[in-house]
Amino acid sequence: MSESEYPYTSEGDFVSYDAGRSSEEAMRVTARSFYELMNRRRSIRTFSSDPVPRDLIELAVLAAGTAPSGAHRQPWTFVAVGDQNLKRRIRLAAEDEERTNYLEGRMPEDWKREIARLGTSWQKPYLEDAPWLVVLFEQRYGFADDGSRTKHYYVKESVGIAAGLFIAALHTMGLATLTHTPSPMAFLSRLLDRPVNERPFVLFPIGYPAEGSVVPRLDRKALVEIMVECEA
Ligand SMILES: Cc1cc2nc3c(=O)[nH]c(=O)nc-3n(C[C@H](O)[C@H](O)[C@H](O)COP(=O)(O)O)c2cc1C
Repeated sequence: MSESEYPYTSEGDFVSYDAGRSSEEAMRVTARSFYELMNRRRSIRTFSSDPVPRDLIELAVLAAGTAPSGAHRQPWTFVAVGDQNLKRRIRLAAEDEERTNYLEGRMPEDWKREIARLGTSWQKPYLEDAPWLVVLFEQRYGFADDGSRTKHYYVKESVGIAAGLFIAALHTMGLATLTHTPSPMAFLSRLLDRPVNERPFVLFPIGYPAEGSVVPRLDRKALVEIMVECEA
């Protein structure tokens, strides 16, 4: 792009950006090892209660907070729960909802069949066993200094990207998690005393896999199934 096409107005405050460039061979090596690392990630549903230091959770949240977001509103809040008593209350409330889903007909039969192979049930012991629960809330709107509402844009997309970075950060440092969405999740707003502009997005139990953990055998789609190339 020539300088005359430079699209930004002088209203903004800009700093220079130079991420550096590597050789294609170096890029290939980095990209392959990142893919191989990510391809080893699995959702874990049995956690060891071994402690995980708080600063590791903070670092994962910092990494998640680098996500791009609509108009840079950063519409996310990560609530980290390490307190055993609060984790127990979250487990009991989640199981109350999930019992209704699984046993009292709130979950459609086809969905039940789909997830049967994952080995899930209404019981959620991992919500107590994992040393940390991090609940990611989406901020549907924000507040200005004078208390008036400010608009947030593309909230779900932004928070979804932050969630992905969070999962990747945890996995990269050797921690396991589960993307958990007990439904409905309103109990999390109540138990964690969140403001009205926030809505629970995902609940992440975090820790080490329990010894002897197993995961369902799953295939990931091949490149040709998930990528379409439009060549000139
Ligand atoms: C938005 C979302 C919600 C999910 N909710 C649940 C859940 O409530 N309970 C659960 O056991 N797994 C849940 N999962 C995990 C999926 O079952 C899991 O990611 C999928 O089976 C693929 O397995 P993998 O993560 O090991 O690759 C959820 C995943 C996503 C992306």
